[in-house]
Amino acid sequence: MKRATLLLAGLLVTFGVMAQEKVVNVYSSRHYQTDEALYEGFTKRTGIKVNRIEAGEDALIERIRNEGARSPADVLITVDAGRLWRAAQLGLFQPVRSAMLEKRIPESFREPAGHWFGFSMRARVIAYNKDRVKPEEVPTYESLADPKWRQRVCMRSSTNIYNLSLMGALIEHLGEPKAEAWAKGVRANLAQAPKGGDTDQLKSVAAGLCDVTISNQYYYARLARSQKADESRVASRLGIVFPNQSSWGTHVNVSGAGVLKHAPHREAAVQFLEYLATDEAQRYFADGNNEWPVVASVKLENPVLNSLGEFKRDSLNVAALGRNQPAAQKIYDRAAWK
Ligand SMILES: [Fe+2]
Repeated sequence: MKRATLLLAGLLVTFGVMAQEKVVNVYSSRHYQTDEALYEGFTKRTGIKVNRIEAGEDALIERIRNEGARSPADVLITVDAGRLWRAAQLGLFQPVRSAMLEKRIPESFREPAGHWFGFSMRARVIAYNKDRVKPEEVPTYESLADPKWRQRVCMRSSTNIYNLSLMGALIEHLGEPKAEAWAKGVRANLAQAPKGGDTDQLKSVAAGLCDVTISNQYYYARLARSQKADESRVASRLGIVFPNQSSWGTHVNVSGAGVLKHAPHREAAVQFLEYLATDEAQRYFADGNNEWPVVASVKLENPVLNSLGEFKRDSLNVAALGRNQPAAQKIYDRAAWK
């Protein structure tokens, strides 16, 4: 080998080592305005560059599976404990122990063995048409199964992960027989066959196609904060209830992340998760999607969320939502809730 070639090879080796130490590869199903600031903040603090791959939730999980042991992915960020649980079931994560994460993130928002951690919280709330319904008529999820609401409820498909996780919580608190009776009751009350996402249900309620629905709060917040008049008008017709305030609390879920089993940059990946639990990152991460920080001391200046006020949340560990998923799907199937 000539000297120049040797020198070049040496440089490449050095560059390779440096690249290995100073990069973290993040697969994320999130893409919000605040994400730029989020990733920049991490690089500023640690000098570690963030390479991002963004795609749909299930596509990312599929990709990591297919890449197997040669996957360049260090961290997976995705939404819903049910989906994080699925990824963990597929063996995609490795456990992480971190005193910082364990101190800052409430126990109910992390997988007990450290396979994944919740970094922002969302709530599945009841939205009602203010012209037709009083909030005290829908104090609980259970109340939506009352025959009084026949033909007045809109709901999205039961195969959706948010509804599967909600059923996971109902199973925990009510037991399977009562959870199934609830599904049958709500199914019997539907004003139309399940179609569309949470925003579509909110629009249907505002338009008077039905009177009440269940939605994640950030879809409502998005409409309420929208610059488009037709969207903010939808929100102005809706009232929001945090269900089950005098029983087990409102069903909550997380956006979360974990370190992947074959992460080439494990240390940087753990640092990245720890960064997500800092005050700065908590704000970006939560506010970007109108969610709440999981770190209790971090307060948002989000006008819509703040107007909804404080609420009692379910204290169930969100990992249970995933564990109950197969039972949840069977219950919905038996209730013929499509
Ligand atoms: Fe969503």
